[in-house]
Amino acid sequence: MRPAAMTEPVAPPVRVAVLISGTGSNMVALIDGSMKNGGAYEVALVVSNVEGAGGLAVAAERGVRVVAVPHKPFGKDREAHERAIDAVLRDAEVEVVALAGYMRVLTPWLVGGWCGRMLNIHPSLLPLYPGLDTHARALAAGDAEAGCTVHLVSEGVDEGPVLGQARVPIQPGDTPDLLARRVLEAEHRLYPETLDAFCRAMRAR
Ligand code: GRF
Repeated sequence: MRPAAMTEPVAPPVRVAVLISGTGSNMVALIDGSMKNGGAYEVALVVSNVEGAGGLAVAAERGVRVVAVPHKPFGKDREAHERAIDAVLRDAEVEVVALAGYMRVLTPWLVGGWCGRMLNIHPSLLPLYPGLDTHARALAAGDAEAGCTVHLVSEGVDEGPVLGQARVPIQPGDTPDLLARRVLEAEHRLYPETLDAFCRAMRAR
């Protein structure tokens, strides 16, 4: 289930915010892919819950606005942290949110507020292996293939409707790290293509 890349331009491009916690290699793929895939979206903003997240500097170098909203000052009040993030998103007139290695489980409040307009990428062929350690679990199960999934975010973790998947054969001698590297390459192709198709369909509605 892989959407074909389209070429007809969409005007105006959908304003996307990418939420990250770490290196943000998928975020970079989304920025770099925004033109390659036909320009249905633009990355207007990158937000991280980690102040020193490596991905923030990389996005800024590419001329994208970056904002850190650290979760620590909010203690255990996850919704208060999300209200702060949501204010940044609304202020920037964001239309679609793309989670890319955002390592916090979201509350129903934020998920509900962005229902149908928040995407995530997960390194497995969902519904197989939601949660962590996906590659080790696929190898332990003796699977012939692994992969990645872009899906809409719903209240259940890694459970929302699937928008696109890419399959990656498991090779003899694969370790979780080797497999993760190959799946990550597939993620970098799948996420921009799927987001482009999603935003194109959104503008056509
Ligand atoms: C990716 O494997 C993604 O599928 C998962 O978290 C990882 C993020 O990697 N949700 P990166 O920060 O995009 O490099």
